[in-house]
Amino acid sequence: TRNLLGIKDLNEKDIQLIFETADNFKEVINRPIKKVPSLRDVTVANVFFENSTRTRLSFELAQKRLSADVINFSASSSSVSKGETLVDTVKNILAMKVDMIVMRHPYPGAGVFLSRHIHANIINAGDGANEHPTQALLDAFSIRERLGDVSGKKVVIVGDILHSRVALSNILCLQKLGAEVMVCGPTTLIPRYMEDLGVLVEHNLRKALEWCDIANMLRIQLERQDIKYFPSLREYTMMYGLNRALLDSLDKTITIMHPGPINRGVEITSDVADSEHSIILEQVENGVAIRMAVMYLLAQKH
Ligand code: CP
Repeated sequence: TRNLLGIKDLNEKDIQLIFETADNFKEVINRPIKKVPSLRDVTVANVFFENSTRTRLSFELAQKRLSADVINFSASSSSVSKGETLVDTVKNILAMKVDMIVMRHPYPGAGVFLSRHIHANIINAGDGANEHPTQALLDAFSIRERLGDVSGKKVVIVGDILHSRVALSNILCLQKLGAEVMVCGPTTLIPRYMEDLGVLVEHNLRKALEWCDIANMLRIQLERQDIKYFPSLREYTMMYGLNRALLDSLDKTITIMHPGPINRGVEITSDVADSEHSIILEQVENGVAIRMAVMYLLAQKH
């Protein structure tokens, strides 16, 4: 069985194939008739143990555009609250003749664990602070669309790197595509292993912006921090918040990204998030074509 559990399992050729497939699907979903019959014999379950807006809805839309049958499972309104385990939950869903599982889970490695117990395609839609592979694919696809080849581009990821699955998957994906990657944030939110990954580390936002072509602004993940963190949100905004005055003081333009959800006025001001240099909603749009491509390619290997 083939899965997409992390960018770590893909090589550059795999990523380029996903992009070329997504190019075709993007053209399809911009037509008046947005649907193709590619997955009409496939049933997919979206199994979410953690909240989501963009990922869950774009997976569902991608499945519908591919003519798959779809069921949606939200742990908070399920029998998980009565003590049913992850493996039992998914085995019961598969007993209903489901072929593919899209899973978001708060624990790192949940997808790998599940893959040892079931026989169905699994797509990781985010596992704790580990990986969020389809997010990284849609992010790199959006860079390619706006700026051309990802190779040689300088990308800084700013913010809460420590608790971010988006950061790790983006780092792995961008490096495989030949981009240079820097992380920027307070020492408390940057894990020590960043340098082992070949990533540049910078604690000064202005210097990071002077270096990069693209800035990907992350949210502080308060839900993953069980201790009082430093800096406070107010201090964080003063030191790492992206605002128009800071961007205007640079002698170049930078492409602005954000995976969402945005905390407007914390990591990014509204005028920057909504500016012509922001590709935030293009990222969301591209999420549908990328997820169509991933599911289509995995389903070919049944
Ligand atoms: N970017 C992202 O994963 O957003 P959601 O948590 O809303 O799915």
